[in-house]
Amino acid sequence: MKIVKTIEELSQARRELNGSVGFVPTMGALHNGHLSLMQKSIAENDHTIVSVFVNPTQFLEGEDFHTYPQRTQADIKICELAGVSILFMPTVEMMYSKMEPTILAPSSKAYVLEGLARPGHFDGVLRVVLKLFNLTKPTRAYFGKKDAQQLYLLQNMVASLFVDLEIVPCEIVREDDGLALSSRNVYLSPQERKDALLLCESLKVATHAIIAGERDIAKIKTEMLQTLKPLHVEYVEILNRDFDTISTIEIGNSIILVCAKVGTTRLIDNLWI
Ligand code: PAJ
Repeated sequence: MKIVKTIEELSQARRELNGSVGFVPTMGALHNGHLSLMQKSIAENDHTIVSVFVNPTQFLEGEDFHTYPQRTQADIKICELAGVSILFMPTVEMMYSKMEPTILAPSSKAYVLEGLARPGHFDGVLRVVLKLFNLTKPTRAYFGKKDAQQLYLLQNMVASLFVDLEIVPCEIVREDDGLALSSRNVYLSPQERKDALLLCESLKVATHAIIAGERDIAKIKTEMLQTLKPLHVEYVEILNRDFDTISTIEIGNSIILVCAKVGTTRLIDNLWI
C-alpha cells in the first residue's frame, strides 16, 4: 500500500494504477463500517483508494472539528490489512486555496434533517467529495447508507454535474446489539452507550408496526417518539427515497430517519424499507 500525503504524490500513484479504481472517502477513526466499504470496493475493483481527511468545511462553528477522533496509525494498519492500494492523507492547506469557487447543495434537500441542525454542512461535503473525485478519478465510489441524506445529495451531484463515476450505496454496519457504528460512538459514556440503543430500537418498533400492516406515517412516528422519549430527539422522519414528504409508507421506496442527542453526542440512524 502506498501512503501519499501530497496532491502530486497522489497524481503520480494514480497514474500507475491500471484497470478499475474504487474510492472510499472517510474522515478516519476507521471502524468496521468503513472497512465494509473498503471490502466491497476491493471485491469490485482492480484497485482501491481510501482517503482520510477531516474536512473543515463540513463542520459548523462550535462542532467537533478540532477534537474529531484521530487514529492515524490504526487507520494505516486497517487499510493495509484490508488490501487498499493507495491511502491518501492530505492536509487542509493542500485541499483548499484562499480563493476558489464553492458548491451549494440544493437547499430544499440540504437544509432539512441533518442540514437543518447543520446549515452548510452538505455544501462542505459536496465540495470536498468533488475535489476528491477529481483527484482520485475513480470508476466507483462507495458510501454508507448510514448517512442517507449525504448519499442522496452525492448521487444528485454526480448525476447533475455529469461526474463520470458510479456511486455504490453500502449497507449500515451495526454492533451485535444493533447500534450503528460511528466514529462518534467513542464519545459515549457506558450509560449513554446503553441509551443510544433506543435509536435502533425505535426503528425496530417502526418495522414491527409496518409488518403488522400499519402504513400511516403519523401513527408510526408517534410510536417511535414514544420509544425515544428518554432522549433529546432532533427529528424522526419517514420520507420517500427522493427525500420528499409522504403520508403513507411506500414499501420499497421509503426511508425512516432518526436523529437524537445522547448526552452531548448527536447520533443518527435510519432504515430503508
Ligand atoms: P465518515 O463519517 O468517516 O464516513 C465515511 C463513510 O463511511 C461514509 O460513506 C459513511 O456513510 C460510511 N459509514 C460510516 N458509518 C457506517 C456504518 N455504520 N455502516 C456503513 N457505512 C458507514 O461521511 C464522511 O466521513 C464524510 O462526510 C466524507 C464523505 C468523507 C466527506 O468528508
